[in-house]
Amino acid sequence: MKDSNKYNRRSFIETASLFAAGFYVMPLFSSCKMDTSSAHPNVGTTINSDFNADVDIQLKAVQSSTTILSVKNTDTYSYKGSLIKGVKQTLQQLEGSALGPIIRVKKGDRVRIRFENEISEKSIIHWHGLHVSHENDGHPEHVIDKGETYIYEFEVMNRAGTYWFHPHPHGHTGEQVYKGLAGLFIVTDEEEKALNLPTGDYDIPVVIQDRTFDESNQLLYLPNGRMDQMQGFLGNRILINGKVDNTLSLNKDGKYRLRLLNGSNSRAYKLAWNTKEPITVFGVDGGLLESPKKLPYLLLGPAQRVDVWLDLSKKSENEELKLIHLPIPLDNMMSGGMMGGGMMGNKSDNSLPYNSQFDIININVGASRKNDAQLPERLSVSQALDPADAENRNSPRTFNFAMEGMMKWTINGRTYNGMEVTEDEIVKLNTTEVWRINNGGNISTKNQKDGRGMMGNNRGMMGNGSGMGNMMQMPHPVHIHQLQFNIINRNHENVDQNLWNAVKDGFIDEGRQDSVYLLPGMYMDLVMRFEDFKGLFLYHCHNLEHEDMGMMRNFKIE
Ligand code: C2O
Ligand code: CU
Ligand code: CU
Repeated sequence: MKDSNKYNRRSFIETASLFAAGFYVMPLFSSCKMDTSSAHPNVGTTINSDFNADVDIQLKAVQSSTTILSVKNTDTYSYKGSLIKGVKQTLQQLEGSALGPIIRVKKGDRVRIRFENEISEKSIIHWHGLHVSHENDGHPEHVIDKGETYIYEFEVMNRAGTYWFHPHPHGHTGEQVYKGLAGLFIVTDEEEKALNLPTGDYDIPVVIQDRTFDESNQLLYLPNGRMDQMQGFLGNRILINGKVDNTLSLNKDGKYRLRLLNGSNSRAYKLAWNTKEPITVFGVDGGLLESPKKLPYLLLGPAQRVDVWLDLSKKSENEELKLIHLPIPLDNMMSGGMMGGGMMGNKSDNSLPYNSQFDIININVGASRKNDAQLPERLSVSQALDPADAENRNSPRTFNFAMEGMMKWTINGRTYNGMEVTEDEIVKLNTTEVWRINNGGNISTKNQKDGRGMMGNNRGMMGNGSGMGNMMQMPHPVHIHQLQFNIINRNHENVDQNLWNAVKDGFIDEGRQDSVYLLPGMYMDLVMRFEDFKGLFLYHCHNLEHEDMGMMRNFKIE
């Protein structure tokens, strides 16, 4: 109540001063879905009293101190949430973690978030995976300073699924996420509720991140500067939900939904059960699959989410069950030649090579306690977009994720430049398109005459054949804002055979997704539809260091 008064007062003062300055514009966040207003300097700063929020949250980014290791605390950043309006379960704090609260809402909820920035850097929050307007998307151009507030007001239009939120200030996303600014945003809907999936204590968040600490328990970020940035940050220990203790104490006979988020800055995981049982996945970024899928192992790139089914009825008490990372032959590609020993100096304390096995979570099977959840064979009706509806089915819009010149990660040769958007980044509202995202795959389209793809696109010292180029190839976890696409093709002809063999059975190409792990030499065709909102949205590499270096661009829906 107090909070709400405070805000009303603040909003009154702001509104009054805006009137005085002659700046006031009509309701900033209208209730209608079609939001075609372009960015206004005051968007985000005032509360729209016509917006009847079902859920109203104050979310502060603060400097915090967290007991992650024993003895001395670690300096962190945290999102601190407090509920102004909504049912109690809306906010769930993760005890003893720097990570933000889990926000739980229903599809159709009208959500207001009052983001207050109390860290001494500019920041803004992005709702990863949510279908919202430009003003609500957390564009880097909307960053606010310490002491300022940004008001988000949107309706939850997404289907049930595991979404998340994190900062998006250009150049500093990697560091702010690394220090603890991230949280899950979980949506439920009627379709999901009808299924009798695990809920409450049987619905378990699992945020996987890698971190490195120095001798005084402080987080170490990019200790090797530019070289770590080029490669992306790789930590030497795994944190689960912000903690080093990776044990989950679960009940024998319990049926669980594990909501996995790879919240790491750049690391991907090849996840498997230590018992060699297949992993049963029933949901991805954009919600439930049509039916569950069993995989021998699962490749989870940065920003990707999956729902994993875990039935402990065949386990015995105290049986050892672990989710582990299996080796991926990626180290050479990334640290060989130029990226490693060579001209960039040595990578010092990476004790967690990709090509090794390590534990992710450790499941402690406790005493028996049954819940009556189940996993049906039919989970959902198909959500798939039909590529036949795409305007450009036979000539996909192509985006090359590649190294340009010397040490610059680019998309089609460009880097992020504020609101800049170019002709080939403009799409039409209410159309469906196929986008081809290419990481040096052997593509041939009209804007890619040279069959060698990435090589032909390179200039300067990278343009001279495969030797140099190969050293510069890395996976790029590609993410598109504002929408959930379907994967229609994953081409691996140009992927290193050894690498491909190690990961090929771990991809899920079904379901609606917003982030994919694009291997070196791979290209993928994605079908997507631009709906409801005009404006600027981002697409980028979700290796946060690459993103911060500018491997990010706007596309414009008009
Ligand atoms: Cu989770 Cu623009 O990113
Ligand atoms: Cu996003
Ligand atoms: Cu990248």
